[in-house]
Order: sequence, then structure tokens, then C-alpha cells
Amino acid sequence: MEKDNSNFLSTKDNKKINKNVEQDDFNQKIQKKHELEFLRVKKELIMINEEQKILLDSISPQIWYLSDSETCITMNKSRRTFFGILNDSERNHNIYSIMPKDTARLCIEANKKAFQSKKEINSEEWVKDKNGQKHLLSITKTPKLNKNGEVEFVVCFAHDITKKKNNEKELEKRIKLLEYEVEERIKLLEYEIEERERAEHALMNAKVSSEKANQAKSNFLANMSHELRTPLNSIIGFSEILKNGLMGALTYEQEDLINDILESGVQLLSLINDILDLSKIEAGKFNLYLNEVSISDFIIKIFEFFKKKAESQDITFTHEVSKNLCKMFIDKKRLRQILYNLISNALKFTSTGGKVGIIVKELDEDILITIWDTGIGVAKENLSRLFKPFEQINTKLSKKVPGTGLGLHLTKSLVELHNGHIRVESVFGKGTKFSFTISKKLNILRSDLEKINKTILN
Ligand SMILES: Nc1ncnc2c1ncn2[C@@H]1O[C@H](COP(=O)(O)OP(=O)(O)O)[C@@H](O)[C@H]1O
Ligand SMILES: [Mg+2]
Repeated sequence: MEKDNSNFLSTKDNKKINKNVEQDDFNQKIQKKHELEFLRVKKELIMINEEQKILLDSISPQIWYLSDSETCITMNKSRRTFFGILNDSERNHNIYSIMPKDTARLCIEANKKAFQSKKEINSEEWVKDKNGQKHLLSITKTPKLNKNGEVEFVVCFAHDITKKKNNEKELEKRIKLLEYEVEERIKLLEYEIEERERAEHALMNAKVSSEKANQAKSNFLANMSHELRTPLNSIIGFSEILKNGLMGALTYEQEDLINDILESGVQLLSLINDILDLSKIEAGKFNLYLNEVSISDFIIKIFEFFKKKAESQDITFTHEVSKNLCKMFIDKKRLRQILYNLISNALKFTSTGGKVGIIVKELDEDILITIWDTGIGVAKENLSRLFKPFEQINTKLSKKVPGTGLGLHLTKSLVELHNGHIRVESVFGKGTKFSFTISKKLNILRSDLEKINKTILN
């Protein structure tokens, strides 16, 4: 029988090979190759999956994949920790198995929207963690579509924004509180401004009334002192005529009475003059009339005037005035008034056998004049009262001495008008020393003052 050779192939050396056997070998080799390739790809995929898992587990936001609204395919470590899921290889969790029912229901509703809309959805959801504590999650759900446009799965990404929200709330609260405080402060300030305006208005009114009253007082004093001085001058003048016997001889009693009338008249006149001067100084209407004067001559004349009075009281009155003191521009009447007040006080408050003195020194910018006495003195605690109007220090020693308490107040004002200042030193029971300065700078102002004086006199 003839053998069929169609299934055999002839080689160069005429060896016959079975075609079918060759084909099978070839197929097996191909299959082996495919299997190896498949294993390699599978391995690679597993590796990629593993790497992806490691990567997802390492980040803090929660990430999970949904295959439908109720099924979570997989989730990263952050989400598992949030829900307390220990098994990290488990897949396809039912949402109800992950979280409490009420939260799950809300989640499913939210998931449905992502599946239905097929678009990315951003939302904020309150979700309970494994301890039942609520967290506000800011969630982005992104559906992944297949070739047919159907949702294959949804990738979800969530941040815990509870702290941020709480901080915002706290901030809002604080801002509201601050706004309230600012509003209250503004109200208070407005009230204070109103009050101040009211006070300023009242002050303005009071100032206007006081200026009016002051003006009225000055006018009244000027008029009254004029009206009083005229009859007083008559009383003093006629008393002097009677006293000097020009109208005939007086009996002893008549002479005594006339002396009283004269003394009272002089005292009253001096009081009226002091009051008038003070009211002018207070109203700023007091002017100095300056003349060039030799200070030495001027003081010596006053000294001579009081020397007799001192002698009559048995008081030793001395002076230390050098002859070559500078010439100065001063208001003679007012400087005389200052010295009269101080010297008459010294004589008034020094008893028989005591000493009173006057010392004049020329300094660089001033003339310094001191009136000292060995009289009753002033207690330390009373010194500050001396220059206040109508202040008289009553002690056992000074009780009987007459006066009004205006002299020193006026003296201080007159010294200050001469750009000077006055001070007192005293030891109670031992004596007192008043020192005052008169500024030489008044010389510089002479031309100005002369002009002023002229306009007043005209
Ligand atoms: N040299 C002095 N020694 C003691 N006390 C004095 C002296 N000068 C003034 N005083 C006290 O100061 C008071 C006020 O003096 P003053 O203003 O001149 O008023 P008055 O002479 O009208 O009393 C006097 O009452 C007296 O108590
Ligand atoms: Mg006096």
C-alpha cells in the first residue's frame, strides 16, 4: 500500500517532517508567550494598584470610589480611619455598613445626584465619624464615564472643614461683638461730644455773662468810687480845716472827734482807691505811666517820709541804698504805693523798740528791694494766704491792728505789672522780710509805653 506523503515536509537532507506536529509546537509556544505576557501585565497592574494604594493611603484628604450610589468600591486609609474600618483589603462596602443609618441615607441621596447628573458635584455634608461625632466635609464627586457615556464609577474626594467652619463662626462671633463694641463706643463718644458741646455752650454763655458782669462791676466801681471820693475829699478837707483851728479853737472832745473823722475818712479813701485799682487790674485796663527816675533818690525820699512815723513809734528805721544806682523808667505813683504798703505793714506789725529796714540792690536785670522788720512775724502755715485779697492773719499779736487785707494783694499785682515778682520770708514772733524785683527791661518798652500813655492822656 502507498503511503500518503502530503502531511510531510522534505528537508535539504530529504528528511521528512510531520507538518501537524510542527504546527502544534508553534501554537504551544505562542500560547506560552501570551501567558507569560499576561502574567507580566497582571503583575505590573498589581504593582501599579499597590503603588496607587500606598499613594492614596499616604494623603490626608479622604478618597473613595463608588460603583453606584450605595456601594463604595474602595477607600483610602484616611476614610477608613474616619469610619473605624480595620480591614484594608475589603472591597465593595455597602454604605449602610460603613456609617450610621441617618448619615448613610443623606450620603446616598447626595451620591445619586452625582450618578444622575454625570457632572462633577461639590457639596458640604455633615457626616458622623466612628465615635458619632459630626464633621463637616467638603466633598467633590467626579463621575467617570465609559465609551457609551454611562457612569462607570464616581471618584470622591473630601476635606474635613469642621475646624475651619468653627473658626469662621468664632471669627464671625468676634466680629459681631467687636462691631457691637464699636457701635457702643461711637454712641458713647457722640454722647460725650454732645455733652462737651453743651458744656462749651454753657461756658461761652457763662463767659459772656461774666464779662458783662465784670464790665458792669468795673463801671459801677469807677462811678461809685468817683461819687464816693468827692464827698470823702470834702470830709477829709473840712476835718483838716477844723482840726487846724481855722474855724476857731476846738474843745478837747471836739478835737478828738475831728481826729477820728479825719482818720476814718483817710482809711475809707485808701480802701476805695485800692478797690478801684484792683478792679482795673482785673479788667486789664490798668496802665503804667513811666518816668525816668533815679532809684536812689526816690527810695531815700520815701525813707525820709516814714522815718518820722517810725520815730514816733520808737522804732529804729534804717536803709542800705547806694547812691549810684541806675536810673530807671518806672511808674512813680505805683512804686510809691508798693513801698507804702510794705513799709506801713512793717511799722504796723512791729512793736515799740523794734527795727525796720530797707535794702536796695542792683542786679543784672532787676532792682531788688527788701523791706524787713523785727515784728510779730507770720507762721509758716499762713504764709501762702498773705497775697490773697481780704486776708488778714489774726493772731494774739495782730488782733488790734486795723486794715482791710487788700494791701498785699494789690502790691503783688503792681509788682507783676512792673515785670517783677515778690516773695516773703518770716519767722513767727521774730520778724518778716518782703523782697520784690522791678525789671530793668521796662526801659526797653519805654517808647511803646510812652506812646500808650500819650494816647490815654489825649
Ligand atoms: N510785716 C508784716 N508782719 C507781720 N504780718 C504781716 C506783715 N505784713 C502783712 N502781714 C499780715 O498780712 C495781712 C495782710 O496784709 P495787707 O494785705 O497789707 O492787709 P492789711 O494791712 O490791711 O491787714 C495782715 O493783716 C497781716 O496779718
Ligand atoms: Mg497793709
